[in-house]
Amino acid sequence: MFMEYRTLGRTGLRVSVMGLGAGGPSRLGQRDNVNTESESANILRQALDSGVNFIDTAQAYGTEGIVGQAIAGRDRSSVIISTKKSVGSNPITRDELRTGLENSLRQLGTDYIDVYHLHGVAPENYAYCRSELVPVMQDMQQQGKIRFIGVTEAWNSDLSHEMLKQALQDDVWDVMMIGFNVLNQTARDTVLVPAMQQNIGTLIMFAVRLALSRSDRLSEEVQKLIEQGQIDPAEIDIDDPLGFALSEGGAISVPDAAYRFCREEPGTHVILSGTGNPAHLQDNLASFERPPLPESVMQRMKHIFRNVDSVTGQ
Ligand SMILES: NC(=O)c1ccc[n+]([C@@H]2O[C@H](COP(=O)([O-])OP(=O)(O)OC[C@H]3O[C@@H](n4cnc5c(N)ncnc54)[C@H](OP(=O)(O)O)[C@@H]3O)[C@@H](O)[C@H]2O)c1
Repeated sequence: MFMEYRTLGRTGLRVSVMGLGAGGPSRLGQRDNVNTESESANILRQALDSGVNFIDTAQAYGTEGIVGQAIAGRDRSSVIISTKKSVGSNPITRDELRTGLENSLRQLGTDYIDVYHLHGVAPENYAYCRSELVPVMQDMQQQGKIRFIGVTEAWNSDLSHEMLKQALQDDVWDVMMIGFNVLNQTARDTVLVPAMQQNIGTLIMFAVRLALSRSDRLSEEVQKLIEQGQIDPAEIDIDDPLGFALSEGGAISVPDAAYRFCREEPGTHVILSGTGNPAHLQDNLASFERPPLPESVMQRMKHIFRNVDSVTGQ
C-alpha cells in the first residue's frame, strides 16, 4: 500500500492520513534537546518526501521556525500547514490573537496558514472564544491570511470533550483536533459521529502518546484501569495488554497497532504522529501504509476498553 489521502471534511483539502506533529512529547526532538534544529527539520523533510503533506505545529511548541526551514524552497501549495494560538486560562485578547498570527506567519516564512486553530480551549472559555475570537479569525480569513478555522481541546483536563460538544453546536469550525486512542475511545460517539454529520475535518491527537509508546507505561495504565473497574481483568493480559494485536493481528508493535486502530475509525481524517527519531518516523510511515488490522482484532480493542473514560494515555 501507499500513503492514503483523504478529504479533510468541508475544507476540501486533500490530506495524507498521517500528519506529522511538531508538538506532543517529542516536539521533533526539541523538547529534550535530542536533536539540533536542522536534524528536526530533516525529519519533516523526510516525512514530506515520503508522501506526508500535513504538518501540525503551534506557537506554543516553539517549532514553527523549524517547519519554516523544512518547507523553504518547496512549492507552498504542496504542504498543508496547521498551527495554533494558545488561548490560556485567562483567555487571550483579540489583539493577542492578531499578533500571534503575524508571529506564526513570520516564523513559518509563509503568507498564509491552511488551518489556524484556537489551541487548548477549556470548556469555560468556549463562549468567550466564540463571541470574541472567532470574528477575528473570520477577519483573518477574509484577508487571506488563513484558509480554514480550527479548534483544539485540552484533553488532559477535559476528558469528556465538553468544549468540543459546545463547538459542535456552532457552525463556524472547519476543523477540530480531537483526543482519541485505543485506551480512551469516548470521542467516537460524542465528537466523531456528529463531526461526520457536519462534514467537519478531524485531526486525531494522542494516538500513541506515552502509554502506547512505552510498554511499562501501558501496563501501569491498564493496572490503574482495572483498579478503577474500567477494564475487566479477565479480558486482558496485564503484562502484555495489546499482545493479541501482534500475535493475532499481524501488528509489528504497539504503536503500529495504535496508529492503525485510529486510522480505521470512521470520521477520522488525519492521524497525527510525532517523533524526534528518524527510525521511528520510518516505522510510523510503514504503519500508515499497512492494510487494516483484522476486524476481529479491531473489535477486541474496542471491546476491552469500551468503558474507559478516565485516562488519555498521557
Ligand atoms: N492541540 C493540542 O493540545 C495537542 C496536544 C497533543 C498533541 N497535539 C498534536 O498531535 C501531535 C502528536 O502528538 P501526540 O501527543 O499525539 O503524540 P504521538 O505522536 O502519538 O506520540 C509521540 C510519542 O511516541 C513516541 N513514538 C513515536 N513513534 C514511535 C515509534 N514508532 N516507536 C516508539 N515510540 C514512538 C515519541 O517519541 P520519539 O520522539 O522517541 O519517537 C513520542 O514520545 C503533536 O505533535 C501535536 O502536533 C496537539
